[in-house]
Amino acid sequence: MAEQRTEMTEDARGRAFFNEADAAGLMHRAFTRSLGFDRADMNRPLIGILNTYSEMNNCHAHFPELVEAVKRGVWQAGGFPLEFPTISLGEIYLTPTSMLWRNLAAMDTEEMIRGNPMDGVVVLCGCDKTTPAALMGVASADLPALLVSGGPMLNGHWRGQTLGACTDCRRLTTEYRAGNLSDVEYAEVEENLVRSRGHCMVMGTASTMNSLTEALGISLPGNGAVPAADSRRILLAERAGRRIVGMAVEGLRPSQVLTRESMENAITLLCALGGSTNAVVHLPALAGRLGVDLPLDLFDSISRRTPLLANVRPTGSFQMEDFFYAGGVSAVLRQLLPLLHGDAFTVTGRTVAENVAESEIVDSEVVHTLDNPLKSEGGLAILRGNLAPAGAVIKHAAASPGLMRHRGRAVVFDGIADLQGKIDDPDLDVNAEDILVLQNAGPLGGPGMPEVGNLPIPKKLLKEGVRDMVRISDARMSGTAFGTIVLHVAPEAAVGGPLAVVRTGDEIELDVPGRRLELRVEPEEMQRRLAEWRQPQPVYRRGYGKLFLDHVMQAPQGMDFDFLLGRDPVETIAQPKF
Ligand code: FES
Repeated sequence: MAEQRTEMTEDARGRAFFNEADAAGLMHRAFTRSLGFDRADMNRPLIGILNTYSEMNNCHAHFPELVEAVKRGVWQAGGFPLEFPTISLGEIYLTPTSMLWRNLAAMDTEEMIRGNPMDGVVVLCGCDKTTPAALMGVASADLPALLVSGGPMLNGHWRGQTLGACTDCRRLTTEYRAGNLSDVEYAEVEENLVRSRGHCMVMGTASTMNSLTEALGISLPGNGAVPAADSRRILLAERAGRRIVGMAVEGLRPSQVLTRESMENAITLLCALGGSTNAVVHLPALAGRLGVDLPLDLFDSISRRTPLLANVRPTGSFQMEDFFYAGGVSAVLRQLLPLLHGDAFTVTGRTVAENVAESEIVDSEVVHTLDNPLKSEGGLAILRGNLAPAGAVIKHAAASPGLMRHRGRAVVFDGIADLQGKIDDPDLDVNAEDILVLQNAGPLGGPGMPEVGNLPIPKKLLKEGVRDMVRISDARMSGTAFGTIVLHVAPEAAVGGPLAVVRTGDEIELDVPGRRLELRVEPEEMQRRLAEWRQPQPVYRRGYGKLFLDHVMQAPQGMDFDFLLGRDPVETIAQPKF
């Protein structure tokens, strides 16, 4: 990074706050002295460090150490760091789904940046929803901001196998349900799966979104893949602390970095990584904050032209630790330069192309070249048809090739409880060619669009050796999951989308190469069923749940709240006078 200035102007937010005349300024200084700081500190650029640490978010367990590293960097560069908390969304602990609170976390992020007198902010994030929330919050506040993620976990190891969270949670539970794994072996998996701090170490949602921050230009190079347990993660945090001081002085805001071009770069990287389908929800939400139009079809067209380069689970064979050793996100971005807006500006003060100019592939089995890709196309497809007029998503890179064109009989579950009650019933009328359909698991129906789209294979079929079937829903799916799974069907069933009127026995046609999803029911019959449809009663009648149900938008709009669209840049602070 180039030399950076560290002097703030007199009217900068922090300085103005501390140097205000009369009682207000006196109070600000006197109360800050109670923290052990003096006027020299208060005249430095004030940098907020947003810490999403929580003991109920295991992926962020090491954040206190990272905060110290950021603080060290801020002091080194002449800034004044003050840490502050926001809510933390732990994927494992929160029910019914952490997605219910992503928008709340984004609001918390935006409002605490707006309300406190900082000149710049470093946001610590990592677990699935914390990174999208951070992106959305800093985009709307539009104060100089830089994201630092906690980094992925190290690989798990068990009986000669490399284990990944949580691809192997599902794979090995399936084998356990099928009777192929003993109680003892299943207990051993529990001990060996998650052996370090950090977020899930396959290319799930967390690894995807943290990798995309590099393409978006809102984090320093390395943010996507340096493992949480690696000392270079601490150095990355320290460098971020140094850099944010320069960004605050330069007035380098997220709106100068997060642009249509950087979002297209992020989608291109998403496709080359075989990343999570959840990015197809989170990126439109971010775009909505920026006033950028990011239609679903853009994901499809970019996926068609972008080769799959990263050989990382669940689409590939390796994990984030191997990916880091192989060159990481920078190596992939350098390969992708002919397909990127290389001149997109980033928080380093340089372009994406300049950031990755020296990056090399160290292991070509893990990171492939443009000339020798794993697949000629990215892993995502957007489907349309009378079953999904506003679109649906499939990650075909992680699906069964033999099911890419498939007609089958629908076996319908009208909600998550219905699914749980029937899926392992020995009397369930289902065979391997059928298509499992789950209704009422979308943004309103879930509520919160839980990650239940990878419906379990019925136990009786598991025992026959079936490991994949076509599954269709308005739900999301964990980025660590795999299978022939059609997700995000829009409009969702709970608002009267066609998915609501599918019945067991109907024929459905999936045609991924043709990008079609059709319910083979006569139009008149569809209309008759839709006219009879009645909206389910709302799950929440008060509090945040009601706010969510009243304002959440559909998946193609990123599931953001309608009143959070756009930016409201932080300019000055309104201080009450005494
Ligand atoms: Fe936090 Fe997987 S549980 S990223």
